[in-house]
Amino acid sequence: MPLDAIEALTTRASPLALTDPAPDAAALAAMLRAAGRAPDHGKLKPWRFIVIAGSARNALGQVLADALRKREPDLPESAIDKERGKPLRAPLIVVVAARLREHKSVPGVEQIIAAGAATQNILVAAHALGFGGFWRTGNAAYDNEVKAGLGLHSSDAIVGFLYLGTPATAAPPAQPFDHGAHITHWTGPPDRGAGP
Ligand SMILES: Cc1cc2nc3c(=O)[nH]c(=O)nc-3n(C[C@H](O)[C@H](O)[C@H](O)COP(=O)(O)O)c2cc1C
Repeated sequence: MPLDAIEALTTRASPLALTDPAPDAAALAAMLRAAGRAPDHGKLKPWRFIVIAGSARNALGQVLADALRKREPDLPESAIDKERGKPLRAPLIVVVAARLREHKSVPGVEQIIAAGAATQNILVAAHALGFGGFWRTGNAAYDNEVKAGLGLHSSDAIVGFLYLGTPATAAPPAQPFDHGAHITHWTGPPDRGAGP
C-alpha cells in the first residue's frame, strides 16, 4: 500500500545504502509519471530521464572514470577506481537532465528548476512505493565528456544522478524541520527609519 502524499513528503530521506530489488517496471513508470507532473513554466518539458540498470551501470562507471582521469590526470588509480564503482551503489540509476532552450519568458534557470522538481517527484514517489533513492551531482554532472557519454548535449544540464533501489537499512531519522528559522510572516516592507 503506497504511503499517502503527506506521509511520503514528510518522511522521505536518503538511505545510507541501497540494494536489490530495484523499482520494477510498474514502479518506475509511476515514478516517471510523477516526474512528468512537476511544475513546468511554458510546458517545455525540459526533462530527460536516462535509465541505467544492470551491466549498463559498468559502462556508466567507465564513462565517469574516463572523464575524471581527463579532469584530474594526476589522481591515483585508486581514486579512478572509486569513481568507476559509483554506479554500482544502487541497482538502478536515473540521470535527470534538462534540455535547455532559448525562450522569451522562461529562462534556463527555470527549466533547470522544473527538472529539479521532477527529480524530487521521482524520489518521493520511490519512497511512497517502498523504495529509496539518493540524489548526487558532483563535478561529473558538469563535465561535457560525461554528458556526451550519456548521449546528452553539452548545453544540457545534468540535474542529478538518482540512485534508486531498496534501502539496505532504515534511513537515519529526518531532522525535525525548524520552521522558526526558515519562515517569515511578512506584513510589509521593513521600517527603514525616518529620514536619510
Ligand atoms: C541538486 C542536488 C545535488 C546533490 N548532490 C549531492 C552530492 O553530490 N553528494 C552528496 O553527498 N549529497 C548531494 N545532495 C544531497 C543529498 O542528496 C541529500 O539530500 C542530503 O544528504 C540530505 O539527506 P536527506 O535527503 O536524507 O535529507 C544533493 C542534493 C541536491 C538537491
